[in-house]
Amino acid sequence: SRVAAVIPAAGRGVRLGPGAPKALRALNGTPMLIHAIRALAASRHVSLVVVVAPPDGAAEVKSLLDAHALPERTDFLVVPGGESRQESVRLGLDALPPAYDVVLVHDAARPLVPVDTVDTVVEAVRAGAPAVVPALPLADTVKEVEPAAVPGEPEPVLGTPVRARLRAVQTPQGFDRATLIRAHETVLDDVTDDASMVERLGERVVTVPGHEEAFKVTRPLDLVLAEAVLTRRRL
Ligand code: CTP
Ligand code: MG
Repeated sequence: SRVAAVIPAAGRGVRLGPGAPKALRALNGTPMLIHAIRALAASRHVSLVVVVAPPDGAAEVKSLLDAHALPERTDFLVVPGGESRQESVRLGLDALPPAYDVVLVHDAARPLVPVDTVDTVVEAVRAGAPAVVPALPLADTVKEVEPAAVPGEPEPVLGTPVRARLRAVQTPQGFDRATLIRAHETVLDDVTDDASMVERLGERVVTVPGHEEAFKVTRPLDLVLAEAVLTRRRL
C-alpha cells in the first residue's frame, strides 16, 4: 500500500492574532509548515505530501519548499485551499494521484508531531482500520453549557461528561482512501475533524495513543511552548 499525507495549511490563524497566515509563521526561524512537512516526511511510510496552501499563497509555499531541505524520497504537491478546513482537505484529496490507498490528514498547526505517532497511525490503517485518530486523555474536566449570546456572560451548565471516557484527538488522522473520499462527498455538515465525517457514515473509527508534542498551535502561548520544545530538541 502507498501512503500520502494531506497537510491543510490554508487557515488564517485568527486566534493567534494579527500577522502572516499561521502556517507561514516562524518557529525558531523556520516556518511552522516546514516543520510539519518534515514531521510527516520523516516517516518511511509516507511517499507523497500534498500541501494545501492559503488560497492566494500557493506560489509562496512552492518557493518555501524549494528553499528548505526536505527528504529526497518524498514527492510534494502544492494546491490552493478553501474557506473552511473541510474544503481545504477536500481540495487536497482532489489532487491525490490514484496510486495512494492510505491517506493521512495532518494539520500544519501541529508542527511537532513525533514520527512514532505518524508510524503508529499508518500501521493501524494498514492493519485494517478504515479510520484512525491519535488521542490523549484530558487533563481538564469538561462541561457542556448553553453558549451565551454575548461572549463573557455567565453560561448555564447543562452537564459534565465522565472525564475518563473522553479523549482529545490530534492529527495525523489516517484513513482508507476510499472511505475518506466517500465521507467528504457525503457529509456536508460543519465538522472539526475528518474522522467525525467517517463516524457519520457509520464506519468504525479507532484511536491509537497520541503524543503531548502533537499539540495544536492555536493561541500565542502555544508559540512559546512550540519554540521551547524545538529548543529542547536543539532545533
Ligand atoms: N485550515 C485550512 N483551511 C482553512 C482553515 C483551516 O487548511 N480554511 C487548516 C489550518 O491551516 C490548520 C488546520 O486547518 O493547519 C487546523 O485549523 P486551525 O488550527 O483552526 O487553524 P486556523 O483556522 O488557521 O486558525 P483559527 O481558527 O484560529 O483562525
Ligand atoms: Mg480554524
